[in-house]
Amino acid sequence: MASAPQVVVVGSIMQDLTLACAEFPQPGETTVGKLRTGQGGKGSNQAIACGKTGVRTVFVGAMGDDAYARQVAAFYRREKIGCRLALKPDQATGTAVILINDRGQNEIVIEAGANAALRARDIPATLLARTKVLITQLESNLSTTAHALRVARDAGTLTVLNPAPMRVDFDARLLRHVDVLIPNESEFAALVRVLPQVRETGFDERTLHALADAELHALCRKIGVATVIITLGERGCFVSERDAFTRVPAHRGLKVVDTTGAGDAFCGGFAAGLVRSGGKIVDAVRLGTAVAALSVTKAGAAPSMPSRAELKRFLGREQSAAWGL
Ligand code: RIB
Repeated sequence: MASAPQVVVVGSIMQDLTLACAEFPQPGETTVGKLRTGQGGKGSNQAIACGKTGVRTVFVGAMGDDAYARQVAAFYRREKIGCRLALKPDQATGTAVILINDRGQNEIVIEAGANAALRARDIPATLLARTKVLITQLESNLSTTAHALRVARDAGTLTVLNPAPMRVDFDARLLRHVDVLIPNESEFAALVRVLPQVRETGFDERTLHALADAELHALCRKIGVATVIITLGERGCFVSERDAFTRVPAHRGLKVVDTTGAGDAFCGGFAAGLVRSGGKIVDAVRLGTAVAALSVTKAGAAPSMPSRAELKRFLGREQSAAWGL
């Protein structure tokens, strides 16, 4: 890629093994489903969601040295999205086993594999310094993620952390290098329970939904990150900035096929929105919300990320023009 990327995503890439079934099985139950395989991993999904909107994006991640890695590299070339894959010959490519029920809800179990072997030396420092936005998650190697956030932040890049999946080995010091934190409801609740600066034991999603907006904003402020965006599924998003808070509603009336990767679609769309709006957080949340809405209408994670043309059709002529799409 000749010109500097506008968004760099450092994170995970997985092979998704998805089983669609009518209902999730109960413990001890066997149920029959339909298998499909596809490209996934939160980091890669986010890069694809962002890159497909036409924003110059580079994904940095790690895979086993196998045929699937070559397929992924070819996919990125076809989509004209930048990609730096560190090949780890001793590691298997990360795998996610996903169950989808007939309401489009999902349950996911991952084995990080090569993602855990991503090292600081696999990430060109110039990429982190020359980009406008860095996005990270928690599905890759944690100390490498911390390194990327620190180097990018020191270089003046805006840093985003999607704390997914929340992990028992999560180190709260990571947040010192984060400008924008994007948890979903369960990740936010987990952060509130474990972060030393908040530590509200027993806080869960129900407690979250019972809070008035001003109370939720006050709680977000305790985290110490400039912007906290809580994604709330069909309830939209709660956005807490230093001196203001607001809600951005989700799009209604769409047929939900598969919610896998909807959070990733949001993060990628949000980063694209930051670039296209010149850093306006709430505007960027609106673009993230539109990208996420379109992603749930299709099956799969990476394959469900909307193209620029689909996004333009969805937003309509006026809004698309305002976004420079
Ligand atoms: O967020 C969805 C993703 O989580 C899936 O693609 C799967 O790979 C897991 O990483």
